[in-house]
Amino acid sequence: MKTKILSGKEVSASVYDDIKSRINLLLKRDITPRLAVILIGDNPASEVYVNSKSKKFSELGLLSETIKLSKDVSESDVISKIEALNSNDEIHGILVQLPLPNHINSDNVIKTIKPHKDVDGFHPFNLGTLLTGKPEFVPCTPKGIMRILEYYQIDLSGLHVVVIGRSNIVGRPISVLTSLKNKYSNATTTLCHSGSKNMVQYLLDADVVILALGSPEFLKKDHIKKDAIIIDVGINRIIDPLNGKKKLVGDADQKSLMGKAGAISPVPGGVGPMTIAMLVENTIEAAEKSVDFSL
Ligand code: GUN
Repeated sequence: MKTKILSGKEVSASVYDDIKSRINLLLKRDITPRLAVILIGDNPASEVYVNSKSKKFSELGLLSETIKLSKDVSESDVISKIEALNSNDEIHGILVQLPLPNHINSDNVIKTIKPHKDVDGFHPFNLGTLLTGKPEFVPCTPKGIMRILEYYQIDLSGLHVVVIGRSNIVGRPISVLTSLKNKYSNATTTLCHSGSKNMVQYLLDADVVILALGSPEFLKKDHIKKDAIIIDVGINRIIDPLNGKKKLVGDADQKSLMGKAGAISPVPGGVGPMTIAMLVENTIEAAEKSVDFSL
């Protein structure tokens, strides 16, 4: 059977279509959704992500500004910066690009962001509301994965979802989202990680595999059952052994899986565009929450 490609590009285009009217409603009230991004140090991958986020914001007529801080900035200076953004009513969303330099405690930084401006959904308050099944801001990548599944009408109810990777950014929140008693969720979810024994045994039983481990082309056709659905969150920059050039690959070996998997999200063009679309959506939601529409 042919493996279906789950295109995040296509799904994100439909998200942008859907939110146009919400943006226009805000603009009519003289409110332009505005995001502040804090970028610390000179991690090239972080710079690429932050640039693509701000490019999308300006394409949509939204405001975003990047506050660049040196890799030696102190934790207290970062916290002061966030406090200033918290009390600026013109800023609707605040995002601190991760990872942070080792001398800065990311938990301390994230919990300084006011939960109603935490468009990344990483604040313990927002993660807590996710756990209770009544989320406020849902982290962008897991939210984007759920949107891909809904768009392609892949209902997880009763299926075995195996997530690999337990980060607060992707693995842990997607393990919660997939198992909530909601439409398109309601799965039996297994969360595998670096301490898991016999990971292949879980993979071979999985109806859906969500890969967020950061290991280039880790998943091969012998690890999955026929027609399994593969969601690939990996973004790995490797040197192509065939021509010595840099290339971007996921955590799935796409070539090996074609023909055996039922569906797969590609890298690039799969989950990546959805992360940005969900950041836009969360920022619009933050701006909407700042307005009293009854006036
Ligand atoms: N680093 C990798 N992914 C993300 C993300 O979704 N948000 C932030 N803030 N940093 C990241």
